[in-house]
This record gives sequence, structure tokens and C-alpha cells, in this order.
Amino acid sequence: MADRYLSFTGTAPGRFLSRRLGLPQPAALRRWSPQRPSLDGALLRLTAGKSGLDPDLASVLSRTGLEVAEAVPAASAGAFGVAAVVLDASGVRDVDGLGEVHAALHPVVRSVAASGRVVVLGAPLDAGDHHQAAAQQALEGFTRSLGKEIGRGRTVNLVRLTDASAAESTLRFLLSPRSAYVSGQVIHVGADAPTVPTAPTAPTVPTAPGDWDRPLAGRTALVTGGARGIGEAVAETLARDGAHVVVLDVPAAEADARRVAERLGGTALPLDITAADAGERIAAALPDGLDVLIHNAGITRDRRLVNMPAERWDSVLEVNLASVLRTTDALLASGALRRGGRIVATASIAGLAGNAGQTNYGASKAGVAGMVRALAPRALAEHGVTVNAVAPGFIETKMTAAVPLFIREAGRRMNSLAQGGLPVDVAETTAWLAHPASGAVNGQVVRVCGQSLLGA
Ligand code: NAI
Repeated sequence: MADRYLSFTGTAPGRFLSRRLGLPQPAALRRWSPQRPSLDGALLRLTAGKSGLDPDLASVLSRTGLEVAEAVPAASAGAFGVAAVVLDASGVRDVDGLGEVHAALHPVVRSVAASGRVVVLGAPLDAGDHHQAAAQQALEGFTRSLGKEIGRGRTVNLVRLTDASAAESTLRFLLSPRSAYVSGQVIHVGADAPTVPTAPTAPTVPTAPGDWDRPLAGRTALVTGGARGIGEAVAETLARDGAHVVVLDVPAAEADARRVAERLGGTALPLDITAADAGERIAAALPDGLDVLIHNAGITRDRRLVNMPAERWDSVLEVNLASVLRTTDALLASGALRRGGRIVATASIAGLAGNAGQTNYGASKAGVAGMVRALAPRALAEHGVTVNAVAPGFIETKMTAAVPLFIREAGRRMNSLAQGGLPVDVAETTAWLAHPASGAVNGQVVRVCGQSLLGA
């Protein structure tokens, strides 16, 4: 269902009227396309709380495709102005350092172009130094507040890192049009994952891509529920990135799964993911193993708890959580998911914030987040596999088109970007987490919600 209000406010009279009436002002978001893969304009690099520049960060930023500057370019110097600001605040240890955050960003925020990016870099909180912890935690409130006020399709995110070179895939993602609907997020990037397999015979894939345009070339990715909606967009995006995609969906959706797989040069796998032996059947269908496992299949069966029969509870918990746990366990235990592999599960902001009528769905999606956080360190240590989740907000799909108009309109506007996301926004976020260079991103639940007001 098209967002007519967004189209209307894109016209001159629509803009005028919505401004006069104090209505939301959604900006048309800049998304990735092969013709325009990067943002237009300069990348402004600033620091707070330390002097001098981290050389690893400098070299990562020099590879983003944006021209790096240390001051706002004169208006005549570039046609586009500032596309992105990266503020390295990882050295901020006290309230004075926070003053430097203000001093760095206050003069430049206005120069950031529409659909531009502000990325604040922070450090992990130091449990032994409450002044550092206070100052670093302050960056979260700062980032989220700026995200809410900045407008014009601009996003603001915080990345906590220890090693800038391990954060290259993350910074490239956040500084590109691919992250159009990701705002107000705090992402932790650890040290890079070990690249050497523990057993010399274990099959492995390199963790650094030779090619940033087709990073998944030579890899196999399985997308559950890939026949339509968000799953179809994920399958498309992973295929664009070079993966051989296996489109798994229920046997009733086999024709759609085949259509998607054929278009992408992949394979269809008709299978109900709730089958007790689904993991074994996936492994049998992929004798060479797989590298990327996307748990996207999901259902809703809404009712308030007082009216919810056990079968509605059970079916949602089965599809959205139990089958995710079961297939993950089976594919890790059998080694079908190769070292260097990636698991990306689908949570939801309903699981983080709660939603009336969705006790079953909210429980299942919160369960996904719990699984991700607990399993991630172990899966990486024992199997060399990262485990993360995406938590979509309001995404324009058939599912949300069926929501009654008033609730749909509220869902669309109640976020900092004042519009719904598109399936491709979830897909791009998934592709970043599935990236071979994202080995240092583990155990994260990243919301793709335009900084929804729900459970923020
Ligand atoms: P959709 O209903 O359009 O697609 C889901 C797909 O999963 C369908 O092709 C369906 O046949 C498949 N599926 C369902 N049960 C299955 C099973 N037992 N075995 C194999 N495949 C199965 O849903 P949509 O909107 O694309 O959502 C995808 C995921 O994103 C779901 O996990 C959903 O909960 C989640 N999500 C969606 C949001 C939205 O705004 N659309 C918001 C938050 C989360």
C-alpha cells in the first residue's frame, strides 16, 4: 500500500500545507541503487575528548567512497555539502569531554544534507571508572535525542568500538544509503572474529571480502520465509551481494518460492520450518553446507490474552521461536553452517516494546533477542559463527497494508523519519550483518525502525 501522505508532502503544495498545519514532514529517503551507490558530498571527520586522529579510522573512512574533510567545505567547493559527519568521541571520559561533543557538532549539524548521516563513535563503558561510564552512556542519550530532532531524512547512530578496522563494514553501511531507515541505534563492534579454524580440517571461508561489491560471492545463504515480503527482499539483496540463495518457504508457497529463486539464480526449498527435523532436512538439501542462515519466517495470530486460545499461542511460538532455536541448534551441531558463517534472526519492535493483542508475538520476538544475546559469544567461540538480529519497526508489506487505516497511519508516522520502512531496509541491514567483514558484530539486536517511538 503506497504511502500517499509521503507522496503528497513531496509536492510543493503538500509541503506548504503540512508545514502550516504542523503535520509530520517525512522526507523522501535516499536508498541504494546501482546508479547511486554512495551518498553525495563530503564526509566530515571530527574528534572530541582526544587530540590526534586514529590512523585505522582514517584509513577506513578514506575507503567509504566519500571525500573526507576536517571542516565544512566552502559552499563553492562541492555541489552537495556535507553528506556525513563522523565524530570520534571514543576518548570522552568526563563531562568536559561531552562539552567537546557539543562544540564539535553544534556548528555543523545545519550543514548536513538531507538523508545525510551523523555517526558518533564511542568506547565500551569502563566499569572501573564511573566518570568514563557516565560520559560514554551520555553519548546514547545525546545520539537518540539528536536523531529525534534532526529531520530531513537524516539519521544519527552511535557505534561503540575498540578497533576501527574491525568496524569497516559497519561504518560503510551506516555511511551509505543502505542504512536509510536505521536511526537512533547503538551498535557494539568488538574485536574482529578469529579467522583461523580451530580444527585444520574444518571447512572455512575468509572473513575479509576481496570485493566490497559482491562480498558474498561463493557463499550460500538460506532465507526462511523467502517467498514474499521482507524475506523476498532479503533474498534479492543477498543475491545482489553474490550469494547463492536458497529460498525456503512452506510447501503451499512453493510456486512463489520457485519464482523468486529462479529470478535470483538460486534454489527453492519447500519446507515447513516447524518440522521437527527441519534442520536435518536443510543440511541434507545442502550437502556442501551453508554460510548464511536468515531466520525470517514469521507469523502473527493477534488476540488479547483473555481471548487467545492455546493454538494461537502455540503456532506463533512454534514458527517464530521454537523452530528458530531448533534449526539453529541442528545446523550448528552438524557443522552444516560453516566457520565464518552468519546467523541473522528476525525480532520485532513489538518484542522490545510490547504491543496490545500480541502477547504471543511479543513473547516470541523477545525470545529471539534473548537467544541472540546468549548464543552469540558461544557460537563465535565454538563454531566461528556470528549471531545477530534485526528488529523491524513499521515496514510497508502486505502484513501492514492489512492493518486498519488509523492504526496504520499512526504506525507509519510514529518514528523520527515519519514514514514506514521498506522491505529493502531490513534486507540491507541483514546483508551488513551477513557480510564476511562483519565478524566483529556479534550478539546485536539492531532495530530497523526509523527510530520508532515504541520501546525506544
Ligand atoms: P509475510 O507474512 O509477508 O512473509 C512471511 C513468509 O514466511 C511467508 O512467505 C510465509 O509463507 C513464510 N512462513 C510462515 N510460516 C512458515 C513456516 N512454518 N515455514 C516456512 N515458511 C513460513 O511477513 P513479512 O511482513 O515479510 O515479515 C517477515 C518477518 O519480519 C517476520 O518474522 C515478521 O514477524 C517480521 N516483522 C515484520 C514487520 C513488518 O512490519 N512487516 C515488523 C516486524 C517484524
